[in-house]
Amino acid sequence: MLVYLRIFRYNPEAGRVKPSFDTYNVQADPNDRVLDLMEYVKSEVDGTLSFRRSCAHGVCGSDAMRINGVNALACKVLVKEVGNEITIEPLLGLPVLKDMIVDMEPFFDSYKRVLPFMVNDDPPADGKEHLQSIEERERFDDTTKCILCAACTTACPSFWSDDQYVGPAAIVNAHRFIFDSRDQAGDERLEILNDREGAFGCRTAFNCTSACPREIHVTRAIAEVKQAIIAG
Ligand code: FES
Repeated sequence: MLVYLRIFRYNPEAGRVKPSFDTYNVQADPNDRVLDLMEYVKSEVDGTLSFRRSCAHGVCGSDAMRINGVNALACKVLVKEVGNEITIEPLLGLPVLKDMIVDMEPFFDSYKRVLPFMVNDDPPADGKEHLQSIEERERFDDTTKCILCAACTTACPSFWSDDQYVGPAAIVNAHRFIFDSRDQAGDERLEILNDREGAFGCRTAFNCTSACPREIHVTRAIAEVKQAIIAG
């Protein structure tokens, strides 16, 4: 099938200071991934096209972008799922550096604010490891699936309107440790998130849940963090 690709272009260092779109007609198989088409354009048509990718299997989270207006991983979207007219744009709400490459620093700054690591200085009771039950592990299983692709945060209208809001991905990663029975910094994280730049910046739009390529129940995780803050 013939696919009509419209791809966002911006590269101030190479004289493309005004954002615009380039178009490419590409022969594709319906089962090709959008990432395959972009790789074809980059290798065969225009080597200046810039985008991030690594694993190509939905694991590393580096190729999140807007495909026909919807945040997704280019390596997980098949041509047959989006049709033969495909518009590709960078994520919203983060500064565009070049083509599909956005500045992820603000995203990771918010992530770091919520202490996204295990805090427990006590020696394990058995001298080897901190044990937990199957039920305790299940409590935060969903939020362990985050791959930090930023699809959720950059789909969030609260994040678009307030760049101080930590965003869904940071709260998801706080959730992952707040509800981990082995961790000891839950109260500290809840305090960090106890304002409008934290969990209460969420307006329950559910865009994050729709955007997550890992199908994490993002809005539910945020609600659980809010409930934990209110419960004190
Ligand atoms: S390239 Fe790694 S998630 Fe798509």
